[in-house]
Amino acid sequence: MRPFVNCFHPNFTHMKDNGWYLKPNVIIEPLVGRWYAWSHLISPATAAMNVAGRHLKIMNSYIQAPQIHAAAVLNPRMKGGPFMDYKKDRKEDIMGLRTGTMTHQAASLQLADAIKDLEKLLKQHPKGASLEGMYEKVPEILKGYVELVYDLNNNPSFRLFEALLYRSVYYDKTCQSIALWITDNDERPFCLSTPKLDEPNVLHLPIPFDNAGIDALSRMKRAPGSIEDIANSLGVREEDRPLFNTFFTRQEHPVYKKYEGPFVRMRYFGHACILIETKDISILVDPLISYYGYESSVAHYSDIDIPDVIDYVLITHNHQDHILFETLLPLRHKIRNVIVPRTNSGSLQDPNLKLAFNHIGFNNVTEIDELEEIKFGDCTITGIPFTGEHADLNIRAKTCYHIAIQEFSFLFVADSRIVESRLYDHVHDLTGDVDVVFLGMECDGAPLSWLYGPLLSEELAREKDQARRLSGSDFEKGIHLVDIFHPKEVYVYAMGQEPWLEFISSIKYTDESRPIVQSNMLVQECVNRGIISERLFGEKEILYAHQESLVS
Ligand SMILES: [Fe+2]
Repeated sequence: MRPFVNCFHPNFTHMKDNGWYLKPNVIIEPLVGRWYAWSHLISPATAAMNVAGRHLKIMNSYIQAPQIHAAAVLNPRMKGGPFMDYKKDRKEDIMGLRTGTMTHQAASLQLADAIKDLEKLLKQHPKGASLEGMYEKVPEILKGYVELVYDLNNNPSFRLFEALLYRSVYYDKTCQSIALWITDNDERPFCLSTPKLDEPNVLHLPIPFDNAGIDALSRMKRAPGSIEDIANSLGVREEDRPLFNTFFTRQEHPVYKKYEGPFVRMRYFGHACILIETKDISILVDPLISYYGYESSVAHYSDIDIPDVIDYVLITHNHQDHILFETLLPLRHKIRNVIVPRTNSGSLQDPNLKLAFNHIGFNNVTEIDELEEIKFGDCTITGIPFTGEHADLNIRAKTCYHIAIQEFSFLFVADSRIVESRLYDHVHDLTGDVDVVFLGMECDGAPLSWLYGPLLSEELAREKDQARRLSGSDFEKGIHLVDIFHPKEVYVYAMGQEPWLEFISSIKYTDESRPIVQSNMLVQECVNRGIISERLFGEKEILYAHQESLVS
């Protein structure tokens, strides 16, 4: 824990001067239609399906029986379920939000209906018959946005022209907003089930995510500025100014000291977020940065430990705990390059990440393909196949990363489930052994419907839903990587355990939970084999030294 004592109370007569910092525990929370902005709420088609199949469903359920939601969120077994988590009855507010959703997101709701209608039409189409005659039956609003296709088994489907949808009425930036608020703990409602309503301590700014004011505001964490100027650039209303002013302090934040040492430094920030630095470069994998400025029981790195410039941000896959716009937007001004897995399948379940990032103000996004290399300085980043963990859906927006830097090599496997170890034998033929493996072992993942349910055209039988999960590797699968890549160090990570990400992971393990038992087995087996190994939690720093440094 890093102490931050806020002993200064803003003197509002001096708001025009340039000596103000944004407090370190101000959350800049991006919202779409007041719901937490995870990646499926950016791409127009997935957003439409989520508004119809998640948001409206949960709102309707809450309006019918708020007490059931209030009871469910108290039950640990219901954690991460479709229940709104409010301290008191917010039925009136949710009714208002539902009405607003029907009005402001009417185009999205029509798009969702049209997609469902198209799915129905395709199901009724004689199997294998030409699809050309179908184009005139495509729902009017989808005409020109889809190509109708078969797979080689004559299963009909459609491909969305996603780039065009982003330029249509179905990508409506006026639904985007930012909620600004101060937190003094890590407790937050599960973000996929609870929208952000008006609260006295929350300032809602109706600005899109590509607004440059977000960068200016974020810069004020390190460089002081004028409250007056930033309020003007964000369009803060006069009546909101008293609350807005409380987000600032004159107290300087601890200064970030750039790493200037001769080694490769690895720092674990929690979950799958790892920073690799040398004196020349910085690489941040799956950014998820905690806040500071309040008491925490877990030691951790936070925003103050992030460099002023991040050369590369690497995104492994399109799950809500690996792409956090809440972390990424405030870092946007520091990020030189974002690397995302390549996909342009046009499939509903596999939105294009480059388009999503581009449309929310990241202009420096590069897609990486399997085995494709990106070289800079003495570093080579290679895309490595990522399998499973997506409920057997055909999703390409996922990649592991091999990072070779100086004489060291790191393999970030993220949540890849090693369903066929021969794949990584083939990869090993190309990469050789690696020094360090980072492996996610959330082997009891959620069922398919938890994340992808709103995209399904028909409900899946319960036993199939339960069998098709978002599960990472267990011991038996994970140990293949050790056998294949002969690492000197193995770290289990991405377990969703840190308190500051419970609101997004909805995970709370006990010692008996399978992911804990299985990862303990892997760590123990590695230790038995003389490999340095542990399950990461909170924070960790390791310096990797050159051979000659060790000798000298
Ligand atoms: Fe995942």
